[in-house]
Amino acid sequence: MTDSNSVSHVMPTYNKLPVCLTHGEGVWLWDENGRKYLDGLSGIAVNTLGHGHPRLVAALREQLGLLVHTSNLYHVRYQEILADKLTSLASMERVFFCNSGLEANEAAIKIARKYGHQRGISHPGILVYDHAFHGRSLATLSATGNPKVQKGFEPLVEGFVRIALNDLPALNAALDGNPNIVAIFIEAIQGEGGINAAHLDYLVALRRVCDERGLLLMVDEVQCGTGRTGKWFAHQWAGIVPDVMPLAKGLASGVPVGAVLVRGAASDVLGPGEHGSTFGGNPLAMRAAIETIAIVEDEGLLDNATRVGEQLMQGLRSGLSGHSGFVEVRGRGLMIGLELAMPCGTLPREALEYGAQYGMLINVTQERVLRLLPSLVMSSGEAELLISGLTGLVSEFLAKQ
Ligand SMILES: Cc1ncc(COP(=O)(O)O)c(C=O)c1O
Repeated sequence: MTDSNSVSHVMPTYNKLPVCLTHGEGVWLWDENGRKYLDGLSGIAVNTLGHGHPRLVAALREQLGLLVHTSNLYHVRYQEILADKLTSLASMERVFFCNSGLEANEAAIKIARKYGHQRGISHPGILVYDHAFHGRSLATLSATGNPKVQKGFEPLVEGFVRIALNDLPALNAALDGNPNIVAIFIEAIQGEGGINAAHLDYLVALRRVCDERGLLLMVDEVQCGTGRTGKWFAHQWAGIVPDVMPLAKGLASGVPVGAVLVRGAASDVLGPGEHGSTFGGNPLAMRAAIETIAIVEDEGLLDNATRVGEQLMQGLRSGLSGHSGFVEVRGRGLMIGLELAMPCGTLPREALEYGAQYGMLINVTQERVLRLLPSLVMSSGEAELLISGLTGLVSEFLAKQ
């Protein structure tokens, strides 16, 4: 195993696990020592198509030879093609392209503020949620509902009002008490917060409240979007359409990209010179996203996410229910949380070393929630391997408590 923290000049902002991966194929990865791993995490919801998907690799190879970057001083045809596709999948109208989730969320926050100013509100506020995660820039960490992410970086950006998830009376009270609120900012399913879904009827209520009060409904689909839950975007399970939707992570299956989609009143808020990004929308990232979407469609990967996700959840439930210390398995599609009654932060490392033939890549968030975010190409047979490996790992862990 590799202890990359001890000799590295890389700033130690991550607690890295002692492994260095070199290549992959589908849901399998290999490390520097030749050990094999079953990938239950896909780079935290990034590798939508798994690793080394031949069709994506061919498209990226071709694009590398043609053009990687020009500038937003010029037209980038692939931006237009991707924007057409995304707006049609999401029933939205326009797209701004950037490079990451926090950038997409920053753009959303700027849109909300400017939307407020356009309505004569000089200190526009945004409603956000307990346990939310929106990123680590100053504005997005201020919107994030986790004091650990904020500590040491005060003063926070002002203008965020926080409430509990799925609590309609709290929502109405916050809006009645804060006439400056111009937008509601919510993850359809909280990822870092522990796989906590906004209830579908709560999302429907948010849409109604935003329409009634003239607020922007901004749905952060950075982690739960791009097909992960079995629909293109997780809020679509509620049959609603947001006004602003940030995307990133899985959109280009590993090539950095971010996007914020807008519609209606949010479409015309930002004009020339009001937002920008040097790298945003470069031809390589656009091509990767266009190809990712096409492959998800051609290979039926939304249905696969629903089917394999259900298999994983049922398999883990039946393998672990009755064990003392097991709380529940929850999620939608391939966004799955397995909650235990005690901290289990050691499990990702134990999972690396667990099997004789191969280890597993998993994650723990909120100390007690084992998180699975496998690639959308995971087969039913591979899901069975993950179920049996995790059932063994977790039941042995619980037996030791
Ligand atoms: C819901 C959500 N929003 C935003 C972000 C930030 O994305 P990035 O790390 O690409 O800045 C994340 C990252 O985990 C996320 O899960």
